[in-house]
Amino acid sequence: MTSNDTVWQGEVLAQTYLEGVRGAIPLANEQIDIMLRLIRASQPEVNWVLDLGCGDGILGTAVLDQYPQANGIFIDFSEPMLAAAQQRLNGKPNAHTIFQDYGDREWLEKIQAIHNSQFTIHNSQFDVIVSGYSIHHQPDDRKKEVYTELYHLLKPGGIFINIEHVQSADPWLETRFKELMVDKIFQLQQQNGNNKTWEDVDREFYSRPDKDANILAPVEDQCSWLREIGYQKVDIYLKIFELAVFGGIKPKS
Ligand SMILES: C[S@@+](CC[C@H](N)C(=O)[O-])C[C@H]1O[C@@H](n2cnc3c(N)ncnc32)[C@H](O)[C@@H]1O
Repeated sequence: MTSNDTVWQGEVLAQTYLEGVRGAIPLANEQIDIMLRLIRASQPEVNWVLDLGCGDGILGTAVLDQYPQANGIFIDFSEPMLAAAQQRLNGKPNAHTIFQDYGDREWLEKIQAIHNSQFTIHNSQFDVIVSGYSIHHQPDDRKKEVYTELYHLLKPGGIFINIEHVQSADPWLETRFKELMVDKIFQLQQQNGNNKTWEDVDREFYSRPDKDANILAPVEDQCSWLREIGYQKVDIYLKIFELAVFGGIKPKS
C-alpha cells in the first residue's frame, strides 16, 4: 500500500466524500437503477452479495433492499467508512462489514483466517459482486488481478458490476468532466446551505487530497480485460464522461 492509497482511511475525506461529493455524482440514481436491472435480469435468486470498497455501503445496501433474505459482505479499509456502512445497514443481521485492504494479494486468505468461525468467503460463492469508485486506486496489473479474483468468487452465472471512475479519452474531455463535477458539487453545496462560490468549489476540486490516489484506466481496456478473464455480456452499460457502469457475467458452465 502506498501513502496515496491511505488517504481514504482518514475521517475528513470519508466525511467530505459522503456529505459533499457522493450526492453530487451525475446520474448516480440511474447508475444504481442499471445495476439493479442487470441483477434482476440475470439472477434467478440472490443469496450472497459482496460490496468491495463499500464506503458507506450505498451499492450493497441497494441490492440487499431488493433481496432482503440475501447475505451481504461489505469490505473496506477505512474505519470511518465502515462505521458509516454499519449505520446505513442499521443492524441488518445478514450483513457483515469487514476491514480489509483488497490491494493486498493475500486479502482473501486474511479474511478467511480472521472470520472463519463466523462465515466463509470462498470461490463460487457470490451471486452478485458490486464495487463503486474504488478499484481505480489499484495499479492496472492489480486491477486485472482483482477482476480475476472476483471472477473466481462469483458463482457460475453470477454478475459483477463496477461503477467506476475511468480515464477520459482526451484531456479536453477530462476538462469537460471536471466542469460537470464542479457544477454538480456547487449545486449540492448550495442546496445544503453552504455559501462557497463556484470558484471555491473549483479550487477545492482541483486540490482534493484523493486525486493523487487515482490510477484511471480507459473503460474499453477494462472491458477487454474482463473478456480475457472469461466474463460474458461485458459492456459499458452506462457512461457519462469519466463515470462508467461496466461489468460482466461469469458463464454458467
Ligand atoms: C470513493 S469511495 C466509494 C465508496 C462507495 N463504494 C460508493 O460507491 O460511494 C472509495 C472507497 O473505496 C475504499 N477503498 C479504496 N481502496 C481500498 C482498498 N485497497 N481496500 C479496501 N477499500 C478500499 C475507500 O476506503 C473508500 O471507502
